[in-house]
Amino acid sequence: MRAGLKICKEYPEIVKIWLGSRLAYMVMQPQDIAKLINRPNLLNKDPSFYSLMAELLGDGILTCEESKWKVHRKLLARSFSQKILDSFVSIFNEQATDFVDVLRKNATHKDFPLYMAAIRCHLENACAFFSASTMGVQLNLQTTSNDIAETLYEAIQLFGKKIFTLRYHSEFIWKHSNDKKKIEASASKINELFRRVVNKKLQDYEEKRKNGNKTYDFDDGSIIQRKVVLDLLLEDSGFSEEELREEINTIVMAATETSAVTTTSILLCMGLFPEIQDKVYDEVMRVVGPDKNIEYNDVPKLEYTERVVKESLRLFPVLAMVGRHVVEDVVIGNYVAPAGTCLVFPILHMHRSEEHWKDPLKFDPDRFLPENMADRHPLTYFPFSFGVRNCIGWKYAMMSQTVLLAHVIRKLRIFTEYKSIEEVETELHAFTRIKGGPKVFVKAR
Ligand code: HEM
Repeated sequence: MRAGLKICKEYPEIVKIWLGSRLAYMVMQPQDIAKLINRPNLLNKDPSFYSLMAELLGDGILTCEESKWKVHRKLLARSFSQKILDSFVSIFNEQATDFVDVLRKNATHKDFPLYMAAIRCHLENACAFFSASTMGVQLNLQTTSNDIAETLYEAIQLFGKKIFTLRYHSEFIWKHSNDKKKIEASASKINELFRRVVNKKLQDYEEKRKNGNKTYDFDDGSIIQRKVVLDLLLEDSGFSEEELREEINTIVMAATETSAVTTTSILLCMGLFPEIQDKVYDEVMRVVGPDKNIEYNDVPKLEYTERVVKESLRLFPVLAMVGRHVVEDVVIGNYVAPAGTCLVFPILHMHRSEEHWKDPLKFDPDRFLPENMADRHPLTYFPFSFGVRNCIGWKYAMMSQTVLLAHVIRKLRIFTEYKSIEEVETELHAFTRIKGGPKVFVKAR
């Protein structure tokens, strides 16, 4: 990853690179990215990144072509409204409480597989988001023994291997490889889990419809109605059952890995900077106290905690870059990216660039105070991508990470073996991960 960042530094405008067998144009200037990222003929993802995911899990909004994407994105966007997200804070609390218990019992040594624990937590969150545990399937991934985190981990390793291994760009070699068989086995296990969630929900829905019952759960008897995403989609999206499954598979996958990697990086940063950890602790104690669950209206008050999440995502964005397929020639200043190539927007480079950030490797959450953000170009920070095809779950992600961090910090002290950000190396799989693991361990407060 260091070599990649060095190349970006040497070419301040645009650089041609090979990603496997794919020619890509990496665009370095925020003003150029801003002009390109929302262009109607540049909204398709590059197939070399996502075609395997589409093949194994279904062609949902993460991967699908612009014409289908436009319709599905509009329908799905309603499920990510602030009101719906607010009603899910109780689920984020439940999962965060279990996560703290898992850490307290197991993470007393640096070899603890934090990422696997984070996968279980976020997978349970995402499945509940679609089906609501009170009405659907209780997965209990954090409290029972299961190998789903390991299965997902292996599938994602193999996704990365398929993208970055040159010989696998030959469909013939890939088709006959052992890795293809392995990834199909993992995908079928993951599909089976999601099928359970969707089937249970479809049964509930059918029963309700027969009984003419149209009521839903209420959150703590308050005015917020917890209408889960599947309810909304079943009611009036017009999605076929197959389309519904495809969307759920892709969104749950998109939510789980990214969230787990982010939690791992945030806790690593907390281990590196105990004085910042103390400030988070003080804020959580002041806003919520030692034991109370976090209410939806507490979340906006956890301002410092949220800035810590943002700063961790600046230094460790889950996707080092995002890519778009060039359908027809594109002019970028003095350069032309021909049709059939790929445009790359380098998130990690932008986040760590000395041109845009003072002392970029310093962990400073106050960079995200409104007064410090005013003069910064928005495309110098885009961990959730940017524009119309950005991450549909970014608000969900910010809320779930803020709630989780608050729960962890008020009960546990976080430590890491690392001494500085400079020492932490990242490596590129399908997503960016910390090489050698975060080496995080905890002690009860
Ligand atoms: C910290 C956590 C997360 C990060 C850093 C993240 C980041 C991103 C990025 C960079 C993209 C653009 C990918 C591309 O253009 O190739 C994206 C897309 C997407 N994300 Fe996230 N994501 C996170 C969490 C979530 C969550 C929680 C959900 C759903 C609950 C979600 C659902 C999606 C979907 C469906 C897309 C595709 C959107 C589209 O193409 O219209 N993500 N995410």
